[in-house]
Amino acid sequence: GKVAVLFGGASAEREISIMSGSAVLAALKEQGVDAHAFDPAERDLWELKRDGYDRAFIALHGRGGEDGTLQGALECMGIPYTGSGVMASAIGMDKWRTKMVWLSAGLPTPRYKLLHAGSDFAAVANDLGLPLFVKPAREGSSVGATKVTRAEDLAAAYEKAARCDPLVLAEQFIAGRELTAPFLGDMALPLIRIEAPQGNYDYQNKYFTDDVKYHCPSGLDADLEQEIQELVMRAARLIDCRGWGRADLMLDDAGRPWLLEINTSPGMTSHSLVPMAARAVGIEFGELCLRILESARL
Ligand code: DAL
Ligand code: MG
Repeated sequence: GKVAVLFGGASAEREISIMSGSAVLAALKEQGVDAHAFDPAERDLWELKRDGYDRAFIALHGRGGEDGTLQGALECMGIPYTGSGVMASAIGMDKWRTKMVWLSAGLPTPRYKLLHAGSDFAAVANDLGLPLFVKPAREGSSVGATKVTRAEDLAAAYEKAARCDPLVLAEQFIAGRELTAPFLGDMALPLIRIEAPQGNYDYQNKYFTDDVKYHCPSGLDADLEQEIQELVMRAARLIDCRGWGRADLMLDDAGRPWLLEINTSPGMTSHSLVPMAARAVGIEFGELCLRILESARL
């Protein structure tokens, strides 16, 4: 039947979603799927029903596409969709609530403080140490995030994040190796180690430069890799993720993993990490898109 590839949307990650969606659309068509582009920013979602779509492939990132709202609309219309359901999408979009779920089960995630306009920024810097990260709780692709190295810069970093989302976190910085852990269904894919210039894996470096080095295989020893994969699958089950996703982590210098966040609708661009990890186990991009599509549920 007809498949709608949902992309674009109105979030801050619209530009990235257009890249993800275009790649998915082309790959599905090449695999013989009757796939069509559908940009929720330009069209009424109800047209999915009217036009007889059987399934939706969600290639949206950020609020309004990855946060459970769209998933709820598709549930109401009875159109099966790829990826996580309403609750996992909503929790996964929110870095604060994600941490609370993980912490309640004893999973490791860096210490944090919520920031407000009236926060004692010096005390926060003192408590979490420097550098630290300031992040809007419900954004992706590092939009609105700042690595703060001086306490006097914390207020400005807060202001920047608060322009994206009133819910803002300051998070302890974990020195060490940066990892990402994609998964497909119940299967952990190989870890990828990310080596960004000056450790700066920001929006620009994520998508628009070739300055980041990606290591897959990660180079970690096999036992540690497996331990981290098991941790990630546990973390994903706690959030109730479905179909596919990607958790981001730090591995500290003592060899301990720290979960940063989980992405329920990860990037599928040419620079993206889920496709890279899938390729490492022989799953080419077209096959990956088909497998994700086949996992579409209500
Ligand atoms: N939020 C971006 C798309 C990612 O996690 O891949
Ligand atoms: Mg994210």
